[in-house]
Amino acid sequence: MSSLIKSVIARRVWDSRGRPTVETEITLEGGRTGRAIAPAGASTGSAEAVDLRDGGAAFGGHDVQGALRAVNGEIAGLLIGRDVTDQSGLDAALIELDGTPNKHRLGGNAIVATSMAIAHAAAASQNLPLWRYLGAGRADFHLPLPEVQIFGGGAHAGRRVDVQDFMVIAVGASDYAQSLEWTAEVYRAAGLLMSEAGLLAGVADEGGWWPAFDSNEQALDFLLRAIERAGYTPGQDVAISLDIAATDFGRKGQYSLARDGRRIDSDGMCEMLLGWLARYPIVAIEDPLAEDDAEGLRKFTAAAGPNVEVVADDFICTNAARISSAAERGACNTALIKPNQAGTLSETRAAFDAAHAAGWETIISARSGETEDVTIVHLAVGWGAKQLKVGSFSRSERMAKWNEGLRLAAALEQAGGRLAPRESFPWGRR
Ligand code: PGA
Ligand code: ZN
Repeated sequence: MSSLIKSVIARRVWDSRGRPTVETEITLEGGRTGRAIAPAGASTGSAEAVDLRDGGAAFGGHDVQGALRAVNGEIAGLLIGRDVTDQSGLDAALIELDGTPNKHRLGGNAIVATSMAIAHAAAASQNLPLWRYLGAGRADFHLPLPEVQIFGGGAHAGRRVDVQDFMVIAVGASDYAQSLEWTAEVYRAAGLLMSEAGLLAGVADEGGWWPAFDSNEQALDFLLRAIERAGYTPGQDVAISLDIAATDFGRKGQYSLARDGRRIDSDGMCEMLLGWLARYPIVAIEDPLAEDDAEGLRKFTAAAGPNVEVVADDFICTNAARISSAAERGACNTALIKPNQAGTLSETRAAFDAAHAAGWETIISARSGETEDVTIVHLAVGWGAKQLKVGSFSRSERMAKWNEGLRLAAALEQAGGRLAPRESFPWGRR
């Protein structure tokens, strides 16, 4: 089957916030195709690849006509006739064609949709499912552990609470399917509890319950009660994971906690979060301090100890060099990996490999603005990520990904792979 690129087209599709985004479709000589859609973040790090948006009045300035033109014009011109299985060569050519450090000329959205479509088309040219193509050479596959949002806060819920994601990880579940079953029960129990307390007010950006709470701690208390109400033992069956997304409310070592009406410094944040670690069964905590607070992140990582995943998102922006230097200084121990932060699949893979080389764990993550695109689930299985974070347990842009994991579980079972995560919790370090 030919692997030469015959055509590259972009079309405007719509994301889970009702905003325009870019879909790239690549057709090969011989007719095989691959396509992918760019997601979009809301709590973005400053070192991320930058989307090309048109500005102006239409769709709040979020239209992507410029990015579509880039794919249909310059990018198509670059790729047509090339071998689609040369992912690293094509990604390097895309980076060079763009020519800017943050991909703003052609657009991170144009480039990531194209880079992921290249992988899909390449897998199709070899008649392989994407996870299998991406995992070429690996003998041992496993399903990632789902990390699922129950309450959404921060930039995803009008800053109703400061913390962005209140999540659960079904650490005691024996496989991927069971972890979804347990999570479904916790999500339902949390909704019932809020409804009984007169606090139910819809869902946030990623499908988690809208956090109509008076404080961050009240949300944590409700989460604990929801786990118990669903019949599970907190910590043993179902543990808590938080994304503080502190870059959104912290700068230069000062943090403004809107919900609690307090301003605290970096040490104060550490103290508050360490208090939560002591009181609640929290196994992972993401962006506990702002992206410009490397020293705070170093101190927090040391104080939290090796059994807590201190997850770097905005701090590293899926960048291999940033991960290596963060690891050298002991700031964080787990990398959140988002393809559209890096911009190409090859750079995403380099960041993933840099994390493992540093002894870090990895979590493949969606964005708050998502679509039916399930590429990242295949990355998680094909590359061997420990966890998968795609938002809550409602809304089809989220469920599309959890459900794709079930399909991959069935495929893996047939192939003799492991349905359970790589290690039990708490984690032994690599
Ligand atoms: P974002 O949030 O997609 O809005 O950046 C996700 C995250 O912070 O992990
Ligand atoms: Zn985050």
